Amino acid sequence: SKLKMFVDDLPQIPRIFAYQVLHGVPKSKSLKIGMFKKKWKFHRDLPPSMVYAYGLTKQTATVPGPTIEALYGVDTHVRWQNHLPPKHILPWDPTIPTAMTTEGIPTVVHLHGGIHAPESDGNANAWFTSGFRKKGPTWTQKTYHYPNNQQPGNLWYHDHAMGLTRVNLLAGLIGSYIIRHPPIEDPLGLPQGNDYDLPLVIFDRSFRIDGSIYMNFTGNNPSIHPQWQPEYFGDAIIVNGKAWPRLTVRRRKYRFRIINASNARFFRLFFTNGLRFTHVASDSTYIEKPVTTNETLVGPSEITDVIVDFSKSRSNVTVLANDAVYPYPSGDPVNEANGNVMKFIILPDHVVDTSKIPKRLVEYPGADLSGVSRTRYIAMYEYTSDIDEPTHLYLNGKPYDAPVTETPKEGSTEAWYVINLTEDNHPLHIHLGLFKVLDQTKLLKQDEFKECMMKINDAVKCHVEKYARGEKVEVPDHEKGWKNVYKMMPGHVTKIVVRFSYIHTNTSYGFDATKEPGYVYHCHILDHEDNAMMRPLKIIK
Ligand code: C2O
Ligand code: CU
Repeated sequence: SKLKMFVDDLPQIPRIFAYQVLHGVPKSKSLKIGMFKKKWKFHRDLPPSMVYAYGLTKQTATVPGPTIEALYGVDTHVRWQNHLPPKHILPWDPTIPTAMTTEGIPTVVHLHGGIHAPESDGNANAWFTSGFRKKGPTWTQKTYHYPNNQQPGNLWYHDHAMGLTRVNLLAGLIGSYIIRHPPIEDPLGLPQGNDYDLPLVIFDRSFRIDGSIYMNFTGNNPSIHPQWQPEYFGDAIIVNGKAWPRLTVRRRKYRFRIINASNARFFRLFFTNGLRFTHVASDSTYIEKPVTTNETLVGPSEITDVIVDFSKSRSNVTVLANDAVYPYPSGDPVNEANGNVMKFIILPDHVVDTSKIPKRLVEYPGADLSGVSRTRYIAMYEYTSDIDEPTHLYLNGKPYDAPVTETPKEGSTEAWYVINLTEDNHPLHIHLGLFKVLDQTKLLKQDEFKECMMKINDAVKCHVEKYARGEKVEVPDHEKGWKNVYKMMPGHVTKIVVRFSYIHTNTSYGFDATKEPGYVYHCHILDHEDNAMMRPLKIIK
């Protein structure tokens, strides 16, 4: 039986304030946020599904978790508490590098886009189980500290446990986090308030008829990895916790902070009635000026922050739809189910709208190319079995636990040339660093170059400059700001300039990333990240 679309209202996600106001002065606050196993109703006609949900209490826990509202310059302390009973609700695979214990489900929380010390970064090996009974080898502290000393913008928090990220997020461990900076943002005049400024957390899921989340538990190479599959795709599109919801809107401007929280699905979003998106920000920061587009391509974990002006609508309903093939960019076309996202019912009356879209937004320093202290080549590889099915993916041909090779200096700027030798687009995410994408250049004679790279994994010795001479793909205007994740096109070299912030940490560690907390960079297709398109990133003084 098919689920009917657009029958549930878009849920209101609870908001948690990460600060308190005492005598008019904002002060820091300590939060305890739990992870709970509970039932969640994704659709009117679907029985409740077992999920893992973040919340202050089990009663109030939601999928996605509460939106955390932080204030620039006001610290937030969060004690993330795991209340999950042993035995995962989804199949995981012990043959990939995995946080393993029989005593509880390992979890660890990463604030994606946050600039904070490594001890608070949610390192994949810093996992812990219920009651902190078992802890991973890089675990150091129970309470995480987020200074919120960064550009106002859109972050999100999610699980990051080694080898379990794909299943822990599939189970529901996702939430959004907004840093606000009123002196900078209020003068912009953008739509404000819970009714007109809202996160849309979008992901795909499949369900069995009993309501449980469906995940194929036979690997594509069962003799090598009995459960692991290279990409998870679901049939239903979930927004803020409901499948294909509907939202009634007024004829005015709305701000939507759209987070693609899927494991592997890219969304190319558009409105069926031709309404347009005016971009104001991307992952971490505002862009310089608003950019209007008809469609927007959002890779896994990317955030696009847009204004939609429903007063411009010529119809009284419109559907936010998706036409990105999956896997992207050479997979299957969408069908009716995954090609629809949500419906907007536009009230006919015209209303007063005092919000505006300013000519200029926020200007940040550009990428300082003359300050680049180091160039690195990061190559993406996929390995296949005799049956020609992917077995695992690596960055620079190295497993996660090979000694750390990326050790930027704090405060430094580096140029990274990301060489995608696979057929898929991989959203590369760098912790701590903020980057600008310069361009993407097609590789000529790719097979020849790839053969050399597969042998010696050395872009310089394989003469990358000889091959990276094809057509250049321009970065779309709305993606020219500072980002923390970007879509690495297959068969291209993507040039990015990364800035690594100064970070206060009292601890100094050696170079063994398997024993100490540190940052990571990885593909944000979660099924790739888990097996094991992730490498440690160590910031040195
Ligand atoms: Cu959104 Cu390392 O993750
Ligand atoms: Cu990938």
